[in-house]
Amino acid sequence: MNKNLAALKKEFPTLNERFGGRRLVYLDSACTVLKLRCAADAQRRHLLLLGGCGGKRSMHSLASAMEEDFFAARSAVAGFMGAGSPEEVIFTAGVTDAANLLANSFPFTPRRNEVVLSPLEHNAVFLPFERLASAGRIKLRVAPLKDFRTNLGGLARLVGPKTALVCVTHAPNVFGGTEDVRSAAAIAHAAGAYLFCDDAQYAPSHGGCGAPEGADACAFSGHKLGAPYFTGALCVKRPLLERLRPWRVGGGTVAEVTRAAGRYRAGYLGGYQGFEAGVQNYSGAAGLAAALARLNRAGFPAIRAHVSSLVTAALKELEGVKGVRVLGRRADIPGGSLISLAPAAKGFSVPDFGLFLNDGVKGSLIAVRTGRHCADLACLNSGYGETIRISFYAYNTLEDVKRFAEALGNYVSLACRGPR
Ligand SMILES: Cc1ncc(COP(=O)(O)O)c(C=O)c1O
Repeated sequence: MNKNLAALKKEFPTLNERFGGRRLVYLDSACTVLKLRCAADAQRRHLLLLGGCGGKRSMHSLASAMEEDFFAARSAVAGFMGAGSPEEVIFTAGVTDAANLLANSFPFTPRRNEVVLSPLEHNAVFLPFERLASAGRIKLRVAPLKDFRTNLGGLARLVGPKTALVCVTHAPNVFGGTEDVRSAAAIAHAAGAYLFCDDAQYAPSHGGCGAPEGADACAFSGHKLGAPYFTGALCVKRPLLERLRPWRVGGGTVAEVTRAAGRYRAGYLGGYQGFEAGVQNYSGAAGLAAALARLNRAGFPAIRAHVSSLVTAALKELEGVKGVRVLGRRADIPGGSLISLAPAAKGFSVPDFGLFLNDGVKGSLIAVRTGRHCADLACLNSGYGETIRISFYAYNTLEDVKRFAEALGNYVSLACRGPR
């Protein structure tokens, strides 16, 4: 860990807490990253010292200061996401919110009403489109899986003249590594379709999103990089943004409401303003901007290199441990931030192991994720069910890797009785 990251690590106060007297070994950053002090401070300052709401609703200075601050956060997010301009950024509560917005605003037509998903889509992206498909509004296709990655040849065969949108997860949340967004975008564009990229697991340590790689829309969640919960953004490039139809409407989205012949009609604002209905999470956006500034100062290349080195070290440690199997292609995994393990010995229980890590390790509380990781498509397509996922961020150390490997070895010798 370099000097800058060592300084950054001190700014995640949860790491200094003791849990029943035990030290925290936090290996669940793919679920949510611990929060940065500067993000909490920025949010608190906003809540306690500023007032008014943005969106140019009121004329007074508090409201204009709030709007200015909100736009500054939008500019910071635009820079981070690789957006063409701040006007291409819609603030959301995270990727789930962004995917619901996109699915329900998308300009499907009877001639272009098919969506092709990668087999690694999180439920946050899969379910909004599955709902539209169940309601008969679109046709959903899921590309095949090959060696724990999207089979791009298979995806290309599903994309055709009726395809409106292709969705690819930039860094899958179960099998790790990264996906080839550039090639997926080329496949979508060759058929006249758009590409959406889920950057929830990519943005935090790669320090960017899929827009520069050709995605027409991409989204990330603030809480996965140390910013407040319920923050994030959807970036939509202008040609697609101009075609989206506002889904959630309300105050702040309307250009004018008219009445003629006893009928009311609403005309909506163009660009991001048509999508940010009602009072927004201004303090959350300030916290998000503060987190991005702090991470930029530490340096995303250093964060990426550090996380990747921890994944590599963990793969090496795990080589010697019997009782589990690492999922994914060995060479791909360090490109991401996580490793998933499937049980491979009789007596290994994924939920019991999770509890063991929580309660049964002397001196440490080891936090990992167990289960299906909200990735039902990946589970159904790979045939794996519950797995154990360890995930890393800027604050983790080799000591954390060793603690986990040691605990795993102890659990296996206590609970397992030979191969499955
Ligand atoms: C790949 C991926 N996409 C989407 C999400 C949903 O993110 P959020 O709950 O912040 O909306 C997650 C959350 O774990 C994820 O891992």
